[in-house]
Amino acid sequence: MMICCLAQLVLSGWALTAPTSPDSFFYHNFLSGNVSKEIHFRGVKLHVDSAQPSVSAVRGGNTTVPCRFWYKPELSSPRDVRVKWSWLPAAGGQETDVLVAIGSDSRSFGEFRGRVQLRQDFPGDAALVMTEVQLNDAGHYRCEVVDGLEDKSSSVYLDLQGVVFPYQHPHGQYHLNFRGAQQACEEQDATLASFTQLFQSWKEGLNWCNAGWLADGTVQYPITRPRVPCGGHGLAPGIRSYGRRHLRLHRYDVFCFSSPSLGGKVYYLQPSHKMNLTEAQQACQEDGAEIAKVGQLYAAWKFTGLDRCDAGWLADGSVRYPIAKPRRHCGASEPGVRSFGFPPPQHKHGVYCYKSDEE
Ligand SMILES: *[C@@H]1O[C@H](CO)[C@@H](O)[C@H](O)[C@H]1NC(C)=O
Ligand SMILES: *[C@@H]1O[C@H](CO)[C@@H](O)[C@H](O)[C@H]1NC(C)=O
Ligand SMILES: *[C@@H]1O[C@H](CO)[C@@H](O)[C@H](O)[C@H]1NC(C)=O
Repeated sequence: MMICCLAQLVLSGWALTAPTSPDSFFYHNFLSGNVSKEIHFRGVKLHVDSAQPSVSAVRGGNTTVPCRFWYKPELSSPRDVRVKWSWLPAAGGQETDVLVAIGSDSRSFGEFRGRVQLRQDFPGDAALVMTEVQLNDAGHYRCEVVDGLEDKSSSVYLDLQGVVFPYQHPHGQYHLNFRGAQQACEEQDATLASFTQLFQSWKEGLNWCNAGWLADGTVQYPITRPRVPCGGHGLAPGIRSYGRRHLRLHRYDVFCFSSPSLGGKVYYLQPSHKMNLTEAQQACQEDGAEIAKVGQLYAAWKFTGLDRCDAGWLADGSVRYPIAKPRRHCGASEPGVRSFGFPPPQHKHGVYCYKSDEE
């Protein structure tokens, strides 16, 4: 409380010391408790830079988001600045605080609490070190450096390595409103895909003719090979968009985004006999694992090249199999996760299990 009011008093005092030229200014550093210490900013400019536009991270891993600041001309002695990192989620929404630091003191916020710190390896190093990267951490990270009245920032995109997959409710096509779509992805160890993530997958060949929710509340679908029921022959390949839909009343499929978890493993459990859904769940448990979720199967297919021409149960009651190297009798000519939909639970199949490092 005291600090706040003192700062306000001081601020009103600043108006008395007018800058001597447009790009230089001068003020007393009252808050340091040493009124005689003056800071001169005559032609000294603060610069902030991130060196690269994006960094890539894996779920559960650590990552460093670069940011560096310096003065021109150089200062003779280092100065304490205020560094603030904020985050604009890839999924859309508002910019939120990640971390604020002054000198060696810092504070982190919300989901980032305890997971982030400033690197400070050398003077001017304001890189953000993040541990245990989560599925939702993708987005733009802004590094803002404040020194007195100077304020500069720079932005880096944190790209999470992952895979986008279309998902349909067990009851069939176009069954999910926005909330249901969110929930469906979460249940499959995934999150709603952002437009950027869908666009990336389209560039990598995702071709899907059913419209699905994205994280920003729009409904879209990616077409690489135009055909009549998917917007027509005349349209160029691209992302077809229905725009924003009513979050509660409108129902579609969904595009989920999943990422491999460090240390996690998906495998086909070689059964002595085919199993119904209950038996499949039990078989994974008896193997020290759990029945795999759809997001886990997609991540294993995309990132570890899981390739198996045997249909197996998954946690949501669907039956699928992953093909990395297409061949005869194993579905379409492109790599992909093949689906048999949601057969009756008494049908007999194999099973895909998921084991994490800790188990
Ligand atoms: C205040 O600043 C002067 C000049 O920079 C320095 O000599 C003195 O030690 C400082 N005092 C404190 C309490 O920091
Ligand atoms: C991430 O960093 C933490 C703390 O520095 C460390 O304990 C952990 O092993 C690191 N994890 C990985 C996957 O490198
Ligand atoms: C699966 O088979 C077991 C008997 O091995 C039976 O008890 C169970 O009800 C069956 N579950 C389903 C979903 O059919």
